[in-house]
Amino acid sequence: MQPQPATPENIEKAAQILRSGGLVAFPTETVYGLGADATNGVAVARIFEAKGRPRFNPLIVHVASVDAARSYAALDERALLLAGRFWPGPLTLVVPLRPQSGLSELVTCGLPSVGLRVPSQDTAQALLREAGVPIAAPSANRSGHVSPTCADHVAADLGSQVDFILDGGPCRAGVESTIVGLTGERAVLYRPGALAREDIEAVLGEGLEAPPSRTAAPTSPGQLASHYAPRAKIRLNASGAEPGETLLAFGPDAPQTALNLSRSGDLREAAANLFAYLRKLDGEGAATIAVMPIPQTGLGEAINDRLARAAAPRPVHRAASSA
Ligand code: TXA
Ligand code: MG
Repeated sequence: MQPQPATPENIEKAAQILRSGGLVAFPTETVYGLGADATNGVAVARIFEAKGRPRFNPLIVHVASVDAARSYAALDERALLLAGRFWPGPLTLVVPLRPQSGLSELVTCGLPSVGLRVPSQDTAQALLREAGVPIAAPSANRSGHVSPTCADHVAADLGSQVDFILDGGPCRAGVESTIVGLTGERAVLYRPGALAREDIEAVLGEGLEAPPSRTAAPTSPGQLASHYAPRAKIRLNASGAEPGETLLAFGPDAPQTALNLSRSGDLREAAANLFAYLRKLDGEGAATIAVMPIPQTGLGEAINDRLARAAAPRPVHRAASSA
């Protein structure tokens, strides 16, 4: 399947495919998602199958509005505060599932909570409204691989396994949504992402806690050690490239010839470029990618999180042990 432009006709076609149990890859402001009707268990199972994803990972459910979110989950005061401020946008809230929500158990993996998000990207919004069903969607890449930030990445990874690929251009943010858990007394940061921790904490008026330590079944693939991995090895905090390495630079003090995540040192620009540049260097056959240090503030937390996972030792059977 080749990517199709996000025209009204194609969005209608994609919505029809979703309603009849098919898989549609679509753009969001973070990364491309591999979507299925979240109320259709067979369709959701196809997501796991297409990605080669371990079944213990719950999926994010995308909805068009806060009102739609409220029909699947109980949103308390904190959730409504964050939703009011950051939805539509790159924030996922893990909140208590409503009984008889109608969502497939495969989406939540039987947990009493669900991850919900309202994307802001135009095509994603149009698709949700046209489809009229909640869309379960992880990133549209093979399990463990780098997340797709343009339609061609999806076609390269999953082209033969999706029924439709909507091309809405490159993703603005380029890293996944920030995941905040609101099922307990304290708000938990499950995954740093495209919305900076500082912005969330400012609205909540409290700090975000670290997730409970890893248990037998990780609740977030972001919590698996090796994830978001290119083929090349990754060396972090490099001041320059050693012989045999390819430099992935950041900031103004880097060699002009190196690929630079952001020459001006802008963390948003770096986040937007991260996955595409890892793919590019991989495609050029780099054996080791040496990455210059990225500051740990704002979106730097999400960038460093993804880089650390990309650099982690790889499991031998990746498909069986990461998502
Ligand atoms: O930006 C994004 O979030 C992208 C785009 C497509 O929206 N989606 C994405 O989905 O990254 P995925 O499935 O790759 O990551 C979803 C994360 C997983 O780590 C999953 O474990 C977590 O959300 N999650 C979903 N429901 C959860 C729950 N009930 N409790 C804890 N974590 C949950
Ligand atoms: Mg992913």
